[in-house]
Amino acid sequence: MEKPMRIGALISGGGTNLQAIIDACSTGAIGGRMVFVGSDNPLAGGLERARKAGIPHFTVDYSSILSAMRQGVGPPPPADFDLAQTLSRQKLFPKSATAETLERHFTGRAIAEARLLVAMAPYPFDLLVLAGFMRNLSPYFIDRVNIEAGRPRIMNIHPALLPAFPGVDGYGDTFRYGCKVGGCTVHFIDYGEDSGPIIGQRAFAILPEDTEESIRKKGLALEWELYPECIRLYAEERLELVPTTWTLDGGRQVRRVLVRQRRAAF
Ligand code: GAR
Repeated sequence: MEKPMRIGALISGGGTNLQAIIDACSTGAIGGRMVFVGSDNPLAGGLERARKAGIPHFTVDYSSILSAMRQGVGPPPPADFDLAQTLSRQKLFPKSATAETLERHFTGRAIAEARLLVAMAPYPFDLLVLAGFMRNLSPYFIDRVNIEAGRPRIMNIHPALLPAFPGVDGYGDTFRYGCKVGGCTVHFIDYGEDSGPIIGQRAFAILPEDTEESIRKKGLALEWELYPECIRLYAEERLELVPTTWTLDGGRQVRRVLVRQRRAAF
């Protein structure tokens, strides 16, 4: 891998994880540098963090693209978008979803994602980190970033102990369920929702006096440690993907790609 590793980031909000990664790059804890920050939200606080750190940044305003589409005045899908191929790969919607829902969703995504890809093109990168990016990525985008088989290049941090509580409010869902332990997960992106191979997790106790707000604080503090740590392992080429199959009693087969951490070479 090119040294230092080139990291791109996508954000939607305040960017405290982004800041933790920028800081870890500047102290040398990650052998990498941030080459761009992209946002789907023009008001994302993380854009200011990028500006302060002198990192190129841009916005692709998903909300305005999707609302133009709803009004029937949206731009056309990109010329290289193949709806049938996207639908054959996607795992975000169940089979019962209507053709209209699927077409609307994935065409809108491809339009926004094509713009993201254009905005990212001037900044070649080795790893793309989603740091509080609140949009699902579709196969259209994922397949244009993961160009080498067996070498995923998109990482995400999620505010729950996956596979529990995927979706947009991991800490809130953990709290409302009455869990006694919460946590965060870093994983590679695949075609499903928060379903890709797990790289690392951190957990914390939820005490009787905790509130939704206090567990969010505990969780975020762990995210700021975990995400740079996982990115460091990637930069050191210490994450190995291991496709694994188990045959359970009754013959049912379970297949998953596991991430194994290699020891440091020294
Ligand atoms: C973090 O808690 C992150 O885990 C979560 O958004 C927050 C972003 O905070 N991500 C998701 O929910 C992704 N589905 P930040 O902008 O301060 O880093």
